[in-house]
Amino acid sequence: MTDAVQPTASRPLVDDDQLWLSVMNKMDETWAELVGQQVELERKNAELEGAHAFMAGVFDSMSDVLVACDTALRVVRTNQAAERLFPGGADGLVGRLLTELVDPHSPTTVADVANTIVRRQRLEDREFILAAAGGAMPFAVNGTVLYDGRGRPSGVVLAARPLGELRRAYTELDRAHRSLKDAQAQLVQAEKMASLGRLVAGVAHELNNPISFVYGNAHTLRRFTRRLEAYLAAVHADPRAADFARQRQDLRIDMVLSELDGALSGIVDGAERVRDIVADLRRFSSDRRTPGTIFDLADVARTALDWILATCGRPVTVHADLDGALDVDGHAGQMQQVIMNLVQNAVDAMEGSDSPTLDIAGTRRGGRVCLTIRDNGPGIAPEIMDRIFDPFFTTKPVGKGTGLGLAICYRMVTEHGGMLAASRHPAGGTTMTLDLPAFMPDDGPGNSGAEA
Ligand SMILES: Nc1ncnc2c1ncn2[C@@H]1O[C@H](COP(=O)(O)OP(=O)(O)O)[C@@H](O)[C@H]1O
Ligand SMILES: [Mg+2]
Repeated sequence: MTDAVQPTASRPLVDDDQLWLSVMNKMDETWAELVGQQVELERKNAELEGAHAFMAGVFDSMSDVLVACDTALRVVRTNQAAERLFPGGADGLVGRLLTELVDPHSPTTVADVANTIVRRQRLEDREFILAAAGGAMPFAVNGTVLYDGRGRPSGVVLAARPLGELRRAYTELDRAHRSLKDAQAQLVQAEKMASLGRLVAGVAHELNNPISFVYGNAHTLRRFTRRLEAYLAAVHADPRAADFARQRQDLRIDMVLSELDGALSGIVDGAERVRDIVADLRRFSSDRRTPGTIFDLADVARTALDWILATCGRPVTVHADLDGALDVDGHAGQMQQVIMNLVQNAVDAMEGSDSPTLDIAGTRRGGRVCLTIRDNGPGIAPEIMDRIFDPFFTTKPVGKGTGLGLAICYRMVTEHGGMLAASRHPAGGTTMTLDLPAFMPDDGPGNSGAEA
């Protein structure tokens, strides 16, 4: 053991004071330095915190799911989108293994991620199925390897975007493409209908001549029958009448004469029926550039009803209240087309009804003529009510509906100065209301609102 050095009592006091003072100065200096360093440290700390908060804000504002892992593929950092996606939320994610976040059926696996770190590659738009809180969900994932200060891989950051969104966008695009194609097909169909209209007009014109021929000749034959009867009566007054009478009996001339009239009536009836059909066809295809005429909307409505109901293939109960003249100035053919469309829509809507019923009523109030057509189908859903008059809007399958019916009706009706509206009947079904300016004889031409 060595002896401790004892302070020498002979050292002068002044030296001690000097030493003490210099120590104090040194301490002051050191203290000031420390304070300076502390201020600098705090400033840097505040900067760091700001940068950290900024990065965290950027991270969290991203809608993509971000997950950063170390090289052992253990989660070290996530953003809010990830916390919302995975079970466990904010606290449960850090420290978990990536395998726990990826669905076993994922087409891209955790091993693929490990490989990208080893090979120092990027993952680009790979499909992952992630084990989200609500169940497995497909994602498109991009992955980037992270490096430490010495350029060695330190982990990987994965950014995932729900494939659902991309798929939805793709489906939307696909749907738009298909509806464009449908629209094209429907335009072709509309053009076909227009040429059918022209054909109908041509056929009606061509049929009219032979029909009047048949009709006229049938009438002539009927007149001839009367003359023949008179002639035969005169012949039988002759002295040789006995011979004629026998022949008359043998040839059953009386039966022939009596049947002749019935046969002629049949021909006349048939010809009249064909003549009416031709007139209807003519009206149907009448060109809107030709001037309008005055017609009874009730007549037109009856024809339209007959045409549709005769071909719709199932019985429909009709309550028609179409008494009284509903005179309108315009194109009867177009209004017939409008009513046929409305009746056809009603019949389509009642396809599933047990007892399809149509109520059709016409009234004249002041200067307006109003026709309502009500069906007992399911009615028009409120959310599509303002779209049914749009061209190509249809809820019917391709091939059954073109979505052009109401659009064309609307155009024709407004061109006649009228209105067409749809409403849901309180007791169910749809009511279509056609409102047109009535023909006013005193007004003179042009005042009824129709544009010829
Ligand atoms: N009486 C009705 N009852 C129910 N829905 C109707 C009725 N009339 C029209 N609609 C709806 O309006 C749509 C458009 O009708 P429309 O323009 O005639 O085209 P389309 O009959 O070719 O579908 C129909 O698909 C249908 O959804
Ligand atoms: Mg229709």
